[in-house]
Amino acid sequence: MQKRICVVGTGYAGLANSACLADLGNGVIGLDVDEIKIGQLNEGLLPIYEPGLSEIVQRNLSAGRLVFSNSYDEGMEDAELVFLCVGTPSGMEGETDLAYVERAVTSIAERIHQPVTIVNRSTVPIGTGDWISDMVEEHLQRRDVPFQVVSNPEFLREGSAVHDWMHPDRIVLGTMDREAARKVSHLYRALDAEVIVTDPRTAEMIKYATNAFLASKISFINEIANICEALGADVHTVAHGMGTDRRISPHFLEAGIGWGGSCFPKDVRALAYIAAVHGQHPQMLRAVMEINTDQRKRAVTKVREILGGFRGKVIAVWGLTFKPNTDDLRDAPAISIIRMLENEGAEVRVYDPVAMERAKESLPHIVYCDSPYAAAEEADAVFLVTEWNEFKQLDMDRVRDLMQQPILLDGRNVYDPQEMRERGFIYRGMGRGYSGEMLR
Ligand code: UDX
Repeated sequence: MQKRICVVGTGYAGLANSACLADLGNGVIGLDVDEIKIGQLNEGLLPIYEPGLSEIVQRNLSAGRLVFSNSYDEGMEDAELVFLCVGTPSGMEGETDLAYVERAVTSIAERIHQPVTIVNRSTVPIGTGDWISDMVEEHLQRRDVPFQVVSNPEFLREGSAVHDWMHPDRIVLGTMDREAARKVSHLYRALDAEVIVTDPRTAEMIKYATNAFLASKISFINEIANICEALGADVHTVAHGMGTDRRISPHFLEAGIGWGGSCFPKDVRALAYIAAVHGQHPQMLRAVMEINTDQRKRAVTKVREILGGFRGKVIAVWGLTFKPNTDDLRDAPAISIIRMLENEGAEVRVYDPVAMERAKESLPHIVYCDSPYAAAEEADAVFLVTEWNEFKQLDMDRVRDLMQQPILLDGRNVYDPQEMRERGFIYRGMGRGYSGEMLR
């Protein structure tokens, strides 16, 4: 075995890190305070849906390179590296709640008995790396043991976390200690990615700036989509035309009902908060967030205009998660849209391939259906909110026949507008003008 690594946290990032580090041949112990979760993980049962991850976890559990524990004593016993992968949720004003980081760092520091490198992968406000170093210093039991802190932001997308971990565009390491940078970059040497070594604050900023830029790209194309709608242009083709310019790239230019999830909303808000606290005016970040919330309302408005109101209407919602291939409902556009529809008196029927059980906790009053067809039955409108693959190949004539009124709000521009209109739908996409129709 290569390094002995302790990974604190077993959320999406923590599990992907534990499993992938073990898969590269390291001995990994994944820590979490939740005893039941640890028991299940040691059986190879994952609490989240993440394609490919459970196979890697099981393979490395069987090989004896990976084990999960709720004991910091066990985790720290002979760890050379400790990865911090704990949650950093948003507070009321967008500020980052560092309580989990603080708890983890204190617990680690009290158990440092041999030289150790602490690698922070949690998304934390700029300057947190220094704060972590101070905290470790304060709680060290043995003053003579050296330690270093390295900021190593992750850029994993849910739904493709394993692929992203194994094929990173770059590895960012923030530290003032050359030896620590060498030690951590050595861990990733099999991945053949550029390693950018910088100071901790710059590394922390790279993470926020990356997520804020990607969210901005989406909000930008959504604003263009809205202008396209007003002028009869087709955003799908506009995005294609823009994306072929290598300076722009085609990625993250899909217009629709906007971004959600556990990272973009939290990180854009946090960066705007940090900026404002430091006397800056993050106007662009604020516009990016505003466009995103407006986009959800816009989808509802489009259908309200056709129906004349939602009171007593039956609305089907296809897809609950913030994007396909995950069961994550955090800040999912579907949740806000369903709340708006319910507030306006609609009866909401939903179908999602993976997240319905989870959704029942926050949305107990809606009707959960076992297929997209069942959800569409007697519906006055269908909202496609998450572009799961299974929605792309449906028998749309059957859907139309099941519905009370054939109104289709395509929140992710999955369908061909012209084809849907020919099939008899009253179709509304996001920014789909006329050219999509003429080209057919
Ligand atoms: C994101 C970042 O991509 C990742 O690097 C970071 O570490 C965590 O946050 P994730 O939240 O898993 O990953 O999802 P991502 O694929 O980036 O999508 C975020 C949201 O943007 C989704 O709601 C998605 O539907 C939306 N999106 C994405 C668009 O609306 N249009 C696009 O073109 C791309």
